[in-house]
Amino acid sequence: MKRVVCPGSFDPITNGHLDIIARASSLFDEVVIAVLVNQTKSSLFTVPERIEMIKEVTGKFANVSVDSWSGLLVDYCKSNQINTIVKGLRAVSDFDYELQMSQINLQLQGVETLFMATAPSHSFLSSSLVKEIASNGGDVSAYIPAAIVSKLKSRVIKNA
Ligand code: PNS
Repeated sequence: MKRVVCPGSFDPITNGHLDIIARASSLFDEVVIAVLVNQTKSSLFTVPERIEMIKEVTGKFANVSVDSWSGLLVDYCKSNQINTIVKGLRAVSDFDYELQMSQINLQLQGVETLFMATAPSHSFLSSSLVKEIASNGGDVSAYIPAAIVSKLKSRVIKNA
């Protein structure tokens, strides 16, 4: 039984994240989406809000569950007997940082990282860009799940 973790900030979840989650769910027995607090970024949605949104859009995948963690990802993996991280790679610009993290995670706790190439149609997509488009009144419906669009719109209006 192969259980993997897909970690991220998911602030909010995008169609790019969903693509990786869907493909991971077809490759592994169990996929745990871990919402982590990224200390280098300020967030728009709280962790419970992000979890609720992810559950809403991944409910169709029977082998996908959602959790959260504050601290090192490898400590989450150790506490939950998971030894493999799955991450999407969008472009060469992601590679340096992701390689560094994967190497440190391997050294810290022996946790492996598998990279999946993002679908070309999502290679430019990030939660940060989606938030920027939404906060400037742009249309984000092609980039995030339909269920999240109104939540993002009302949050950026509230914060304006
Ligand atoms: O969606 P993001 O913001 O690119 O995800 C990055 C995340 C949250 C997965 C990464 O920052 C992370 O793993 N944070 C937890 C702390 C940690 O384990 N850092 C790596 C070793 S120092």
